Formats: sequence, C-alpha cells, structure tokens
Amino acid sequence: TDRYCVFGNPVTHSKSPAIHAAFAAELGDDIDYTAIEAPLEDFAGAWQRFIAEGGRGANVTVPFKEQAYRLCDSLSERARRAGAVNTLVLGDEGLTHGDTTDGVGLVGDLTNHGVTLAGARVLVLGAGGAVRGVLEPLLAAGPASVLVANRTAEKAAALATDFQDLGVISGGGFADVDGQYDLVINGTSASLAGDLPPLPDDLFAEGATAYDMMYGAEPTVFLRWATARGARPIDGLGMLVGQAAESYRQWRGMRPDTAPVLAELRRGL
Ligand code: ATR
Repeated sequence: TDRYCVFGNPVTHSKSPAIHAAFAAELGDDIDYTAIEAPLEDFAGAWQRFIAEGGRGANVTVPFKEQAYRLCDSLSERARRAGAVNTLVLGDEGLTHGDTTDGVGLVGDLTNHGVTLAGARVLVLGAGGAVRGVLEPLLAAGPASVLVANRTAEKAAALATDFQDLGVISGGGFADVDGQYDLVINGTSASLAGDLPPLPDDLFAEGATAYDMMYGAEPTVFLRWATARGARPIDGLGMLVGQAAESYRQWRGMRPDTAPVLAELRRGL
C-alpha cells in the first residue's frame, strides 16, 4: 500500500482524502491517503517523518504552500513562478520534487465546461497566492489579454510584471476595470466574508463566464452578482477535483476520470 496525505492546519475539513480514495477505487489502486495536521512552525519535519513512515507523496494546503516550496530539491517551472507548492513527490533517490497543480485544475475545469480561453479577454480578481498559483497555465492557454485587478493595486501590478514574459498581462486596482470581459475569475478571498469587490455593472461580454475559485452548497455572492448580469456561473469545485487528479497522475502515472468524483462531491455539498 502506497501512502499519501494532505498536510494542512487545520485540515479536518479537507475533501482531499475522499477525492483520492474515490480516484483509487476508480483505478483499482491500493493506496492509503490521510489528512495530517502539521505543526505551523515545522512543516519540513512533518514531511520528513511522513517519508520515514513510507510516504510517497502529499498535497499541501493552507498555510504550508510556501514552506513546502522552500524544502523542495527540484521544482516545476510553474511552481517556481508561483513561489508555492501544492504537490510533493518523493523521487527514487529520496529527493523531493514540488509542483503546483491548481492552475491545471482551473484550466481543465474551464475546458470541461466548454469555455474557450484562446483569444478570450480575461479579468482576474485578486493578487494573492491563489491567483499567483494559476497564472502560468492560464496564460499558456492563449487568452487575448489578462487584467489582474486587486483591492491593493500595487500587488496586482507587481504580479503582472512577474508574468509579463508569458503573455499580455497587466495589473491594477478595481477602479482600473473597464471594458468587457469574456471570462471573469474571482481569486479573492472576499467570498469567504460574503463581500463583493466593487466592479462596474457592465463588465460581462455577451456569453461571458464568471468563475469563482471558492465553492459551497450555495452560490457565492460573486456568482449571484454575475448571474444577475447575464454571465454563466461556475464555482471552484471542479478546480479542486482537477488539481487533485493532476497530483494523482504525478504520483502514480495514471490520470483518474474527474467527472464521477465531481458529481459525487457535488451531491454531498
Ligand atoms: P489566497 O491564498 O487565498 O490568495 P492571500 O494571499 O491572503 O490568500 O490573498 C487574498 C486575496 O483576496 C488578496 O488579493 C486580497 O486583496 P489584498 O491584496 O488587497 O489584501 C483579496 N481580498 C481579501 N478580502 C477581500 C475583500 N473583502 N475584498 C476584496 N478583496 C479581498
């Protein structure tokens, strides 16, 4: 039995154990995947202990993605850009490789929903870790332009500068948002507080999609607002399952089918 886990703090509400158990059942794999609450100040120690006990790989969630990034012996290009890691893979030599699969999860979910990224005018709300983690795969999908808008405008401008070589990307404050967008992605944590960023009413182009990286039993404030303005709402549950599937593939070489697992999770919300 190969051992995997998700590290977080707190971690009891993580859906990752259920998702990976479902993947393993689908593929007939024999794995053991648990949730481990690592100590806030010693993530590296927790990973080393897990390896010593036979661990092969892990997912990493809040607040350890940066600590995980720092302990890796090698990194994927997108993890290096993100400055954060959500997937740890133990290599044959005992070396730790780090990747971030959130962006693949997001782009895959958009694709599954039939959203065309190539040539799209994209607005991304927020400039924190969640946004930084998805920008590389998003830009690789070939949008016409990406505007990153954030409450703190300077953070968005700095973020855009870091990704400038990958596509047409700029950053600013919410007041800099004008024109129309085919896709608006909410990567702020405002939804958690039931808040809505101050945005113009007419920012959705004909046939536009509104994507919230958050999810819940009920649509977020952002998705309700967007729906009322004619956009098609999609929440982040598919992104969650997609990032998990990409982690699973990196550990075990096989990519599970996400659709049945997503449907099951949706029923349980
Ligand atoms: P995460 O890992 O979720 O990205 P983070 O790095 O703390 O967490 O970033 C949170 C993001 O949500 C930031 O873009 C933050 O804006 P600031 O950079 O101005 O702080 C944004 N955010 C949080 N609460 C918000 C609110 N109530 N309205 C608008 N933006 C909010």
